[in-house]
Amino acid sequence: MTSILDWVLERAARVAPGQLGAALDELRPGLAEGFGGPFNGQERRLDAVRDMFAAIPFAVVVETGTFRATTTMLLRDLTAAPIVTVEVNPRYYYYARRRISQAQNISLLRGNSPGVLRSIAADAKWNCGPAFFYLDAHWRADLPLVAELTAIAQGWRSYVVLIDDFRVPDDPGYTYDDYGEYAGPGCYWARRAWRDQDGNVHYSRPRRFCN
Ligand SMILES: C[S@@+](CC[C@H](N)C(=O)[O-])C[C@H]1O[C@@H](n2cnc3c(N)ncnc32)[C@H](O)[C@@H]1O
Repeated sequence: MTSILDWVLERAARVAPGQLGAALDELRPGLAEGFGGPFNGQERRLDAVRDMFAAIPFAVVVETGTFRATTTMLLRDLTAAPIVTVEVNPRYYYYARRRISQAQNISLLRGNSPGVLRSIAADAKWNCGPAFFYLDAHWRADLPLVAELTAIAQGWRSYVVLIDDFRVPDDPGYTYDDYGEYAGPGCYWARRAWRDQDGNVHYSRPRRFCN
């Protein structure tokens, strides 16, 4: 019975205008979990983020792809730095707006992430020190990643970028999305991080990988 109701609510939310769709989504509390919790429920990624926040005094946090604001709310607990999160879809935008309304110092912007990044790069509020970017605005065939990275590289001097979901070539347990032709050619450097029994974090030497 519940699943039939879920199906009906999902269908209705998809065709409803954004605000109504978001209100219908609120009838299903489980949706607040997003894709299995903050950072898709990937605990090692969360550990790595915690370590970065402990080591680097980020002045701002920027997320692209808010969805249910699941990771946004966790980021709020991890740091006191102002957070800005960007969502293009009206249904998710209005859902997230209600959810973050009780939280401190989170700005939700509606729009296409590369354009929003370019505009906030010119705003001293969001460009005033080391920035942490969580790039998660991937959805079906639309992959704004290259344009997002270009906007960041051109706009900020000091930053860390965490890309969701990125392939870790020697870790088959690390799931990722494959956008095929949309990924575009390119190379990147990556390091593996792991924790020893005493809780110390170690990093491998950087290795270069190409698509
Ligand atoms: C994988 S979900 C984000 C999950 C969320 N960050 C979390 O951790 O719970 C991807 C979101 O990105 C949004 N999105 C896709 N393309 C976008 C774009 N170009 N600009 C802004 N948001 C975008 C989608 O509407 C969707 O809500």
